[in-house]
Amino acid sequence: MTCEIMVGLQWGDEGKGKVIDCLSEKADYIARFQGGNNAGHTVICGGTKTILHLIPSGILQNHTHCMLGNGVVIDPSVLTEEIRKLEKSGIEVTSRLLISPLAHLILPWHREIDSFIEEQKSNAIGTTKRGIGCAYADKKARVGIRMGDIFDRQRLKKLLEESLWHAGFFLKNNDKKRYEVDEVLAWIEKNTASYRHRIQNIIPILHRIASDKKKLLLCEGAQGTLLDIDFGTYPYVTSSNTTAGAAGIGLGLAPQHFRKVTGIAKAYTTRVGEGIFPTEDTTEDGKRLAEKGQEYGATTGRPRRCGWLDLVSLRFAAQINGVTSLVITKLDVLKGFEKIRICTGYYLNDQVCTEYPVQTSLLEKVKPSYIEMDGWEEDISSIQSFEELPMAARRYLRFIEENLQVPISMVSVGPGRHQIITL
Ligand code: GDP
Ligand code: IMO
Ligand code: MG
Repeated sequence: MTCEIMVGLQWGDEGKGKVIDCLSEKADYIARFQGGNNAGHTVICGGTKTILHLIPSGILQNHTHCMLGNGVVIDPSVLTEEIRKLEKSGIEVTSRLLISPLAHLILPWHREIDSFIEEQKSNAIGTTKRGIGCAYADKKARVGIRMGDIFDRQRLKKLLEESLWHAGFFLKNNDKKRYEVDEVLAWIEKNTASYRHRIQNIIPILHRIASDKKKLLLCEGAQGTLLDIDFGTYPYVTSSNTTAGAAGIGLGLAPQHFRKVTGIAKAYTTRVGEGIFPTEDTTEDGKRLAEKGQEYGATTGRPRRCGWLDLVSLRFAAQINGVTSLVITKLDVLKGFEKIRICTGYYLNDQVCTEYPVQTSLLEKVKPSYIEMDGWEEDISSIQSFEELPMAARRYLRFIEENLQVPISMVSVGPGRHQIITL
């Protein structure tokens, strides 16, 4: 089996959905290994826009099989609704989807607590309010509920009592509504009814395909490297490891299966939510990037903050993920800028550093050091080969490649499935 990990190298929304949909044409299996419905992965195919929150982006290719690994946190009502909507539009999902019994559930109070904290905190993270952090916190506190627990009603009831007892400290202190265990039990049963027969141990399947040389498995990451709970801009991060190392843990695959890591980055940078963003551009240029790139969050609809490409954090992202090939997306958005800025170093304590400082206390102090490159005027959105790109666009891409010491394998020049150049 060839096993390819796909990860975002920035703060999410790099265009992972689009790229994974394209690569899925040749894939057999696509598996999500972390995150939950905080993700919003957009696929545009045949003029129809689909935003996937939980189901892997390969589902729109008819021949594929998809999996949700143990590392994912699943809101049962969101999954039910996502399957229902896709099936209503004529895409068969249930028979092509397997869900790990070890994946944790997002429960109604997780969402409530997430929203409550976000609304009360003076330095809010700007979460998606989907209960992601609370579900992962319960997993680590060993009071979570897992997909495999739903099959034994009595046992589930007992687990829910314990989990609610644990959440109760928070809910009670903040005078929030009390949950009844029977109500939550009924909610879980209703919202897992359509796919409960698809909750199956995926490990034997993964290991069976592992020995078949012809099979291709794509491991779909959500969020991006700079939102990683360990390596991101803590505490303004998500609650899972979003980097390549999480693929093995989030699916149950040993390290030797992974040889290819594809890192996906926008040709500029965006961020939704709060936190450090060294190359953020709040001038007209930033607004222009937002407008031309249609930069609104696919999950929450919030406007994304925009700025220039940051090679310091990208080099770091390429290192910690072990990126073997790069995909640059949204190159078309840079059309019409006379000059394009690229951050090649950070000013820190009167010196220029080219190594990413990792600590938030240092990152808070950095100022970007830019070089400027020529832009281009031509519309590149229907170009199909690297050679046809304007000279300035090619120079821009080669500069990124040389700086990161990683080859670019694909360049996306528009949101559509076929707007992609393979190098
Ligand atoms: P993801 O979370 O990484 O899958 O990315 P999102 O779907 O949240 O955001 C990417 C947005 O950019 C979506 O609206 C895509 O349709 C769009 N998109 C992806 N690739 C390109 C591209 O090359 N050019 C343009 N203009 N839009 C793109
Ligand atoms: P995809 O997979 C962009 C951000 C939120 C917030 C922080 C924590 O579409 O790239 P959380 O709800 O996870 O506790 O929020 O992480 N965030 C994302 N930003 N793309 C995403 O996913 C994101 N998922 C979470 O905006 O800043
Ligand atoms: Mg997104």
